[in-house]
Amino acid sequence: MKEILKSKFVKEMCSVTANMYRLGWDERNGGNISYLLTEEEVAPYLDLDKVIRKIPIGFEAKELAGKIFIVTGTGKYFKNVESDPETNLGIVRIDQKGDTAELLWGYKDGGRFTSEFPAHMMSHVARLKADPNNRVVMHCHPTNLLAMNFVHELDDRSFTRSLWQMCTECIVVFPDGVGVLPWMLCGNNEIGEATAAKMKDYRVVVWGLHGVYGAGKDMDETFGLIETVEKAAEIYMLTSHLPRINTITDDNLVTIAEAFKVNYRKDFID
Ligand code: 13P
Ligand code: ZN
Repeated sequence: MKEILKSKFVKEMCSVTANMYRLGWDERNGGNISYLLTEEEVAPYLDLDKVIRKIPIGFEAKELAGKIFIVTGTGKYFKNVESDPETNLGIVRIDQKGDTAELLWGYKDGGRFTSEFPAHMMSHVARLKADPNNRVVMHCHPTNLLAMNFVHELDDRSFTRSLWQMCTECIVVFPDGVGVLPWMLCGNNEIGEATAAKMKDYRVVVWGLHGVYGAGKDMDETFGLIETVEKAAEIYMLTSHLPRINTITDDNLVTIAEAFKVNYRKDFID
């Protein structure tokens, strides 16, 4: 067997959690990531017949039966992942019934996957239907985006428009816009279902007064998506209380979206 700590997927989890921590998106145990892996990717590193323990999921994820994910642990700090991946991360396979996760590696101290596992798994189901190449779901608490939640109405259309207007290339990076949920209790199936419902249409879902979910085909794309949203929110927070002299107009938005040939939300343009 090859050494799993040297695998591409463990290294990617280490570097992305470290980056997110340094950007201030993941204080304490804030944030969580799930990354869909193929059997071919994992097989050189793990005996797929060896299940360390079984962890109940608390809902049925039948569509994900047999699928393998590397997932951050609940209560674990992103700042610690790089120095101890085997305690802070776990690799789980969803069993055939869809209600149990089989632990194949990690959570060495007896831990388990993130409390936001329902939102992650339900979002994977929703995104895989929209895009079979989707592999990553990422949740974090970016500072400016969170700040913006307190001073901006929480509505898909107006929130998306404000972000698009903050950086010229926003509409190219998230032409599908941003879905916004009101404040909800986190860590349960209900917020998971609400997130997945938004994920049918959006790759970015804001959890009102809490944080953000992003989904994408790989780590870079997903990270870049949240990074771009957070940058736009930063510009918003730096400028929204000042007199606005210049604006990216709706005509400008259409011009750039058409030049980059992206399928943008036409109903979000005035
Ligand atoms: P976990 O530590 O369970 O991953 O929760 C962190 C979080 O951000 C909850 O929304
Ligand atoms: Zn959170």
